[in-house]
Amino acid sequence: MSKTILVLPGDGIGPEIMAEAVKVLARVDAQRGLGYALEYDDLGGAAYDRYGSPLADGTLDRARQADAVLLGAVGGPKWDAIEPALRPERGLLKIRSQLGLFANLRPAILYPQLAEASTLKADVVAGLDVLIVRELTGGIYFGAPRGRETVDGQRRAWDTLPYSEGEIARIARVGFDAARQRGRKLCSVDKANVLASSQLWREVVEEVAKDYPDVALSHMYVDNAAMQLVRAPKQFDVIVTDNMFGDILSDQASMLTGSIGMLPSASLDANNKGMYEPSHGSAPDIAGKGIANPLATILSVAMLLRYSFGEAAAADAIEQAVGKVLDQGLRTADICSEGTQQVGTAAMGDAVVAALG
Ligand code: IPM
Ligand code: MG
Repeated sequence: MSKTILVLPGDGIGPEIMAEAVKVLARVDAQRGLGYALEYDDLGGAAYDRYGSPLADGTLDRARQADAVLLGAVGGPKWDAIEPALRPERGLLKIRSQLGLFANLRPAILYPQLAEASTLKADVVAGLDVLIVRELTGGIYFGAPRGRETVDGQRRAWDTLPYSEGEIARIARVGFDAARQRGRKLCSVDKANVLASSQLWREVVEEVAKDYPDVALSHMYVDNAAMQLVRAPKQFDVIVTDNMFGDILSDQASMLTGSIGMLPSASLDANNKGMYEPSHGSAPDIAGKGIANPLATILSVAMLLRYSFGEAAAADAIEQAVGKVLDQGLRTADICSEGTQQVGTAAMGDAVVAALG
């Protein structure tokens, strides 16, 4: 039976970058006779406009049925004023949580061709290859109670940051397993000097470590990790951390590589069923202009093929094609530097397709 991919272009630049990712997927599919079936639906603001909800029940059902989900990006000023429960981001959080996609893998790899595009000195980032493993379905993003009230004319609001040992252990295992496939170094990032949830986090990570004597485990407070990521980012191999710290550190790590427009991500459940999306947002300021960088979404297709469909050779081919295009000097505006040729979104997608042969 052929595999089904549910494509959710989303909002802002989402549809533009997704069109290029689908071109690349179609070429790889045709070359290798993989026979994937693509289905399309809406998520986020586009879904709110069409269904009155950022994630319609029917869309969630189709996502459950599909073998993998490919997502563009969600959100934009158009939906800023609607009630919080219907905001585009809610659709994203709900699909992550309903599909049980607790493990978010965000690799930050510096393509040598882009060393000049980084805001850090080339020697600080040259050869950078860090994997951030972010817990995605727990912590402060989903904790209850959360709320808001007015007492004596003062507004107050609160969130809750809960983690159970089961949630911590399963994401820790993803981190250790990933480290085993790479440089065998895992850094667990927390705020155990202040937060009770982080104290449990550290304890449980230590317990899981007993099953991975071959992986060197270290712990780091999140504030120090933020500093170390810009001071000496190459000290890291795999970082495992909670939902909010992972959100923040992965944006930071992405800039080490020159542009957040280069970074793919995978969100996986316990069986490697996954949703794949660029790490960047919907960039409403440049939407519709045809200048967005489609490479993060194209590289997300590679992750999909590798992690959910076991097609490592096809994934390698896409990653190599991206490298070739960068070698040719083609750059979208976000990664453009002197001596390179600036191209738009579609031209970049076409170049990757051509490089696939
Ligand atoms: C991300 C995004 C989301 C998050 C937003 C859009 C809800 O920033 O995927 O990193 O915070 O998880
Ligand atoms: Mg984020």
